Amino acid sequence: MPLVREETEHLHRVLRELDARGGGIGFDLPNPYASGLLSHARSSGRDGRGYLDALLVSALIEMRSHERFVRLRACAATRPLHRLYDALGEAEARHGTLFLALALEAHDEGSVRERFDELARVESALLDGLDPGPRVHSGWRGL
Ligand SMILES: [Fe+2]
Repeated sequence: MPLVREETEHLHRVLRELDARGGGIGFDLPNPYASGLLSHARSSGRDGRGYLDALLVSALIEMRSHERFVRLRACAATRPLHRLYDALGEAEARHGTLFLALALEAHDEGSVRERFDELARVESALLDGLDPGPRVHSGWRGL
């Protein structure tokens, strides 16, 4: 399933879950995690470094989402949402792998590994500085 369609279907699924619980989607607040990562991505150019960084930032975001869904799934209090978390977590893991595969199609493995490690260190520092919050990408690494 194409990535955009799958992500859109997931958004609609989450909206249905929120609606069923009397909630809804709020304003789209700035996301310091994503914007922080993107601020470290190099700009696009002929050398493809911007494209590589976009893919690797996307991979990190998807992989972190997978991790968070796995942890949410482990919480007994979220039992009514476990099937949702399973589905979203599986998809996020697959998306992370897809972005890494695309990076490896365009660049040599050494360059991909080196830049991925650099961006992962940036991500780690970002997560350490974020406040905990009711979103997948917030602080509090011990979620
Ligand atoms: Fe995703």
